[in-house]
Amino acid sequence: MTTSASTAEAFRVVPNASPASAEERATVLADLKFGVNFTDHMARISWTADDGWTDRRVEAYGPLPLDPAASVLHYAGEIFEGLKAYRWADGTIRTFRPEENAKRFQRSAHRMALPELPVEDFLAAIRAYVAVDGDWTPTAPDSSLYLRPFLIATDVFLGLRQPKKAEFLVIGSPSGPYFSGGVKPVSIWVEQDYHRAGPGGTGAAKCGGNYAASLLPQMEAYARGYDQVLYLDAKTDTVLEELGGMNVFVVLKDGTVVTPVLTGNLLEGVTRSSIIQLLSDDDLKVVERPITIDELRQGVASGDVAEVFACGTAAVVTPVGRMGAKDFEQQVGDGTPGAVTMKVRQTLTDIQYGHAEDTYGWMETLA
Ligand code: COI
Repeated sequence: MTTSASTAEAFRVVPNASPASAEERATVLADLKFGVNFTDHMARISWTADDGWTDRRVEAYGPLPLDPAASVLHYAGEIFEGLKAYRWADGTIRTFRPEENAKRFQRSAHRMALPELPVEDFLAAIRAYVAVDGDWTPTAPDSSLYLRPFLIATDVFLGLRQPKKAEFLVIGSPSGPYFSGGVKPVSIWVEQDYHRAGPGGTGAAKCGGNYAASLLPQMEAYARGYDQVLYLDAKTDTVLEELGGMNVFVVLKDGTVVTPVLTGNLLEGVTRSSIIQLLSDDDLKVVERPITIDELRQGVASGDVAEVFACGTAAVVTPVGRMGAKDFEQQVGDGTPGAVTMKVRQTLTDIQYGHAEDTYGWMETLA
């Protein structure tokens, strides 16, 4: 039967019969990587078109039995979110603006014709999961319990239709920084052969397919000696969109900060909108508008562009030190992390880790 929107208490807990020992957990927490290790449990809610969202539970982390005809395996009915749980010095576990992720999850679901999970259920699932596995939240600097809510279409049917069955899960990974080795500037390849999204497509949805399509360009960029790919719009091939897994910001010499306007082709990043707020409150002028690659190139060459940085939940704020394409290669500024970039990174992470007052009310206590 359908049950109404839930609280964490609505989740029954089916404990993992063989959880990691305290020693095994300590070994993982002592050598943190990004997204490699997972905790003992996962939160889960099932959905059917007839019964709605049912069977809220926290159960052992483990493989999902899936019928080979499950529609996610054929038609990629999948969306996900990424957010982090931070261990504060007072021992509490907090997360950052989870309602924003919950609302974006609904928008992604809508675009992918998947069922829209109530915001309360998204939040309650995270709380229920952290209530059980919060001990996996690391304490090392820049570490977190990276939370990965996701939804898959599990219809057993090869016809193409709106799914009638789906599973929502939250898994968590005790993680170190996304880019290992401290805050190092990354290089970006400006992509002229592939596009990430097109008008009317799924660019604003956080669906696995967008990320799958980014892997070939990413591998080609690696082969050319670049770390990340910057995509241009599919219609004119001139306007900056995003990096595939991160949004992008450009800091001008006069202190103005520009970032690509949301067109429906790029992800509405929670970190992106938080940074716009933080920079504006730091008395910088922030402008969301189309930025052309020619403008960026010329600005970098003339020095009018002082800094470029990328941002996202996983990567936080990452300076860009170099960019290139088939017909150019440029260093951004002096190639080292810029002052605006590093300041906004510090301000943001100070709020997230409880080192500064959260005047925005962005942090939610989970446990
Ligand atoms: C995140 O920043 O959390 C993402 O979901 C991006 C992913 C490529 C790690």
